[in-house]
Amino acid sequence: MKKRFAVLGCPIEHSLSPDMHNSGYQALGIDASYEKICVTPSQIKKISKELKRKQYRGWNVTFPLKEAILPEIDILSPEAERAGAVNTILHQEGILKGFNTDGQGFIRFLEEEGFTFQGKTVTVLGAGGAAKAICTALLDYECKILIANRTVSKAVSLADLLFKFGGETEIVPFEDSDWLKKTDLLVNTTSVGMEGEDFPLTLQGISRETIVVDLIYRTRETPFLTKARNYGCQTYNGLGMLLYQGALAWEIWLEEQAPLAVMKEALLLVLAGGENVET
Ligand code: ATR
Repeated sequence: MKKRFAVLGCPIEHSLSPDMHNSGYQALGIDASYEKICVTPSQIKKISKELKRKQYRGWNVTFPLKEAILPEIDILSPEAERAGAVNTILHQEGILKGFNTDGQGFIRFLEEEGFTFQGKTVTVLGAGGAAKAICTALLDYECKILIANRTVSKAVSLADLLFKFGGETEIVPFEDSDWLKKTDLLVNTTSVGMEGEDFPLTLQGISRETIVVDLIYRTRETPFLTKARNYGCQTYNGLGMLLYQGALAWEIWLEEQAPLAVMKEALLLVLAGGENVET
């Protein structure tokens, strides 16, 4: 029987996930399909029932459903529980298991690039959903997590959450400051730069040894990354995290290694078309 998968969200039109997964099924000769379905939070209950009835094996959820899906989930994985959000659902005989592969996708990608997280100081710019997924995943790696956010109260909420789980956390100002010197890994999770706009920090004082990541992937190099590169830092955009969160979902659903090279090629192909995209 054909295995059916989907990504749910709103808007969903420009999602790259179908390209990434379908190209993988095709390359490995797997009888499966992955489609996109436009779903709002008020429709999530009904759609979840329908996907169960139609025997979908799994689905991803993206904005604005990562928290709205929680009431439909029967079993939450530990990382989804800590993040308070789900992006991957596995359906087994009417039971829905919820996972969050965003944070682990980020970690896996950088590990593949040779970065080791243990004991490192990671500064996260932003305190929204993406920051939360990454920071809670980092809890397993004994990192020191510095959080800088425009709205300090949101940084405090995230720091409180990490502290509750035993994380070593500090709030630092969302401006060029001493923390730049101490940072081993700097991650921009804010949306600043999506439209090519300049980043409010100059990054003056950053060490050239610092690894710098921007989660934005529709622009190959945001102004934030250009600044970091000009200081001699190794930089990455968000494509790697996108790829690995998808690969981890693949492994959960199909219990086998994802064809990373094929999936990456599919992503690059669509992005080269210059489309506006979301996960
Ligand atoms: P996501 O799920 O992608 O993390 P989100 O939860 O809406 O999205 O979070 C967006 C993040 O980008 C927030 O940290 C937000 O900062 P505030 O908490 O101050 O709103 C940050 N952000 C968005 N626009 C920004 C801007 N112009 N300057 C600085 N930070 C910005």
